Amino acid sequence: MCIQNGEWVIISKVKFHFQIRDRIIRSLHFRIILIILCVGILPGIGAYIGIIEAYESRAVSLRTAEIQNQCTILCDQLNSYNYLMDNSSDVINASLTQLTNIYNGRVMIVNKELTVIKDTYALDEGKMIVSENVVRCMKGERTNFYDKKNRYIEVTSPIMEAGADEIAGVMLASVSTDTIEDSLRIFHTKGREILWIISVLVLVFSIFTSYLIVRPLRKITDGIENISEGFQDEELHVDTYRETRQISEAFNKLLARLKTVDASREEFVSNVSHELKTPLASMKVLADSLLIQSGVPVELYQEFMEDIAKEIDRENDIINDLLTLVKMDKTAQNLNIAQVNINNMLELILKRLKPIAEKKNVEIVLESFRPVSAEIDEVKMTLAVSNLVENAVKYNHEGGYVHVSLNADHKFFYIRVADNGIGIPREDQDHIFERFYRVDKSHSREIGGTGLGLSIARNAVIVHRGSIKVYSSPGEGTTFSVRVPVIYVSA
Ligand SMILES: Nc1ncnc2c1ncn2[C@@H]1O[C@H](COP(=O)(O)OP(=O)(O)OP(=O)(O)O)[C@@H](O)[C@H]1O
Ligand SMILES: [Mg+2]
Repeated sequence: MCIQNGEWVIISKVKFHFQIRDRIIRSLHFRIILIILCVGILPGIGAYIGIIEAYESRAVSLRTAEIQNQCTILCDQLNSYNYLMDNSSDVINASLTQLTNIYNGRVMIVNKELTVIKDTYALDEGKMIVSENVVRCMKGERTNFYDKKNRYIEVTSPIMEAGADEIAGVMLASVSTDTIEDSLRIFHTKGREILWIISVLVLVFSIFTSYLIVRPLRKITDGIENISEGFQDEELHVDTYRETRQISEAFNKLLARLKTVDASREEFVSNVSHELKTPLASMKVLADSLLIQSGVPVELYQEFMEDIAKEIDRENDIINDLLTLVKMDKTAQNLNIAQVNINNMLELILKRLKPIAEKKNVEIVLESFRPVSAEIDEVKMTLAVSNLVENAVKYNHEGGYVHVSLNADHKFFYIRVADNGIGIPREDQDHIFERFYRVDKSHSREIGGTGLGLSIARNAVIVHRGSIKVYSSPGEGTTFSVRVPVIYVSA
């Protein structure tokens, strides 16, 4: 089916209309206004309807009682004048006419044979009347009836036979309720006016209230938009309500975190470039010094080339460490988890590192308190522990020791790597897990290393949902304590 241009215009207009409507309905402004309008106006409308209905029913019942009284009095008079036999009494006729005039109604006197013997409208005299109310009254039951639509009240009253206890006829009076309707109309007009005034006042109040409630939220949105346009130094402070203050505080925390992440990213990039440039600069100096000299002895060439090769190895180490870190970040979710014997794993690690330790005359001891098996990624965990043991050897004195211990409970296994080496000053302990951080920058070149080892170790432990802690006193030694769950729990 092909849609014509004109149809597209209509479709987009309808869409736009729905979008606008949706936005209005979903806005907090609209909802607050709606709630206040409902709460403010609905009870008013209810009260208005209730008052009008109560007034109407009260007015009708009062009027009915009044008419009924008048009819009873007249019926007694009719009785004493024997009006059913002779309806020529001027006194009675005058009373009937008066009743008709006062209440703007009509009175009919009906005898036992249901024949109208007197009609104040003089329309139905001599005619038969078969009305349910008349028949019921004839049987002794007074009736009254309100016809709201045609606006009249009809009342029947029995006429007793003179000197006897029997019903000889019925007085049927119907009176207009126009006066009640007039009062009701006035009530309606006034009521509607008052309702309109209340509605306008409530509407103004609701708009004002919704503006007051929504204003702080708008301030927050503006603030967030301002800040998200660039990391500006300003913070969000909307203290109007407790909730907006909490939002501001949470946002400021997030902002601080973003700033830290941003700063550490910048620092990382500058560190990486610096670290990568250092070996290159050394190689450049070495190569240049060979190039500018003529007739350089072969031994010097050899020595310089060895230095260049060392720098290439160093560059290679840095790149490898960086790659390991990046891989670790990326593969945090897809670990190669398997059931691993941790005792064996530690034995293998120490066996591999023993030659390095022997070279420095450092003794490595492994103490296993129990056999431990856990669900881990063996390669990553080996990397972490190797880094810790390597450090314990590297930052140790001649003749020092490294004590590795393994223990476990039903939830975690614990590896401790303790040494009696040079230790780490208190102020550096918070930073050693940062990338490229080294305590003794002046000697780091002699000792070697990139400052990425602990960062890699910590990442490896964290992806296992474990933790790593350091306890150290300068000059006395350092202990790294690793805690990892025995059963791997994925995120
Ligand atoms: N057992 C330890 N004793 C004393 N200092 C330590 C110990 N372990 C780490 N450090 C300090 O923490 C710093 C960071 O260690 P990290 O392993 O991250 O880097 P690195 O050993 O310098 O280089 P590499 O990337 O080769 O491991 C070290 O430079 C060192 O100053
Ligand atoms: Mg290290």
